[in-house]
Amino acid sequence: MLHENNRRSVLACLFTACEDEFRVSIKYEATDGPGVCWLAPEQTAGKTRPYVFTQGQAVLNRSFFPCFDTPAVKSTYSACVKVPEGFTAVMSANKWDRRKTDNSFLFTMERPIPSYLVALAVGDLVSAEVGPRTRVWTEPCLLQDAKKEYDGVIEEFLTTAENLFGPYVWGRYDVLFMPPSFPFGGMENPCLTFVTPCLLAGDRSLADVIVHEICHSWFGNLVTNANWGDFWLNEGFTMYAQRRVCRELHGEAYTCLEAATGMALLRQHMDNSGEDHPLNKLRVKIEPGVDPDDTYNETPYEKGFCFVSYLAHLAGSQSRFDAFLKAYVDKFKFCSVIAEDALGFYLEYFPELKNKGVHKIEGLEFEKWLTVPGWPPYLPDLSAGQDLMEPAERLASLWGAEPLDLGAISEADIRPWRTYQTVYFLEKITELSPLPGGNMEKLVEQYPHIVNSSNAELRLRWALIVVKNQYRPGYPHVRTFLRSQGKQKYTLPVYRALQSGSEETRALATEIFSATSQQLHANVRNYVKKILV
Ligand code: BES
Ligand code: ZN
Repeated sequence: MLHENNRRSVLACLFTACEDEFRVSIKYEATDGPGVCWLAPEQTAGKTRPYVFTQGQAVLNRSFFPCFDTPAVKSTYSACVKVPEGFTAVMSANKWDRRKTDNSFLFTMERPIPSYLVALAVGDLVSAEVGPRTRVWTEPCLLQDAKKEYDGVIEEFLTTAENLFGPYVWGRYDVLFMPPSFPFGGMENPCLTFVTPCLLAGDRSLADVIVHEICHSWFGNLVTNANWGDFWLNEGFTMYAQRRVCRELHGEAYTCLEAATGMALLRQHMDNSGEDHPLNKLRVKIEPGVDPDDTYNETPYEKGFCFVSYLAHLAGSQSRFDAFLKAYVDKFKFCSVIAEDALGFYLEYFPELKNKGVHKIEGLEFEKWLTVPGWPPYLPDLSAGQDLMEPAERLASLWGAEPLDLGAISEADIRPWRTYQTVYFLEKITELSPLPGGNMEKLVEQYPHIVNSSNAELRLRWALIVVKNQYRPGYPHVRTFLRSQGKQKYTLPVYRALQSGSEETRALATEIFSATSQQLHANVRNYVKKILV
């Protein structure tokens, strides 16, 4: 049943116009389409049974079921999924039941959601409880790792977010660890976040992705961008919420350090694409026929984060802005909004700011935030992270020197550093690369814990450093890394670096791609193809 819950949608008009409800039954068969990903046993972690999963965002679910595939429209859903013996189905639904007689799974999502949040996975799946409303779902071979990594940690994320943003309305919060080819770090399917198995780092260091997806429970899933041109409303607010929660959990310094890494990613993106690129606007014009996924980049995330941070700054104090966020969610829950709704409500909520005309301050006009491409006109103060960033920057610059001051380098014991401090250090090394001759060998000797790390964030940075330095002994690492997982944000940067290197790195890219392309998600495969031509 479709809900008439969006003021702007054509559907709403249609439904209010006729008083009687009516049901439409559609019989259909889905053929091959990018929304439904069928995996052969070799493409799974266990390698013994096939697997199928769906990925709806942004507009892929139209190849999964007939729908009004726009985030402007929300509806509840129910589904009956019949699977072969020995398989388990899971969906983004708050109720589920198993009918043993014919191995069917019955799902109901009782809250209205946009089509892109309907999600299904079927495979050899098992689960374990890790909190009062949370289980981890995985293939059997990963269950112990998943339980160990997340046992007893997720509930604290949920309660911290609830305290900040209001009640969690979705009932359960479960996490499904996907096969290695899953193209994202995480996907906020309601009741059941899908995540890359890379999050099983062994030391709980990559849980910020879970925090991010949890925050979508309010920003994105409750209050949804009404069209993909305002995607920053989903991701910018969620980045702000994620870092707000992380501040409560890990403190100001570490959160600022992580945010600084985000700023560096935005800087790289804008340098590569050119600041004036139309995709470097918060509000993107998506022409008919253009796939919103093709507009995906760091801008809605990090420039969006800056804009929301600016709104917080204008509010005058954290507690006033926290109260605004709660009110915003309450006002627009189960609805879809455009930027004007969010910003209009902000000015209504803070009438004194509206009277002062904060939305029209020269250079910082809300309108300009949305429509002018390029670097954000306001940056949040990240100086609280300085004590963590500075040692990393200083050490990186020692590695850029010739000759190396190995004495000074050895004084810095970086083994106790937390993951994002090491990531920050490696980002700085990448910026300085290629390093002067011979320094790579010394770097390898000095930091075996980085070179041999199984942490995907470190492996990515190490692969990029290897490629940028055309460091041949590191090529097997690049190969294994690209073979071991298919996350878009890991895969594309490595191929881009390989392609802009030398004849030799280009040949390496082609070799790796021909061996791994079948494992990649169809979209990621196409993006790599574009990089390699
Ligand atoms: N909703 C996104 C993933 C997405 C975006 C899928 C656009 C399809 C189209 C998800 O919440 C996300 O942002 N994931 C990030 C996590 C990170 C920012 C912590 C990712 O996958 O890297
Ligand atoms: Zn997100």
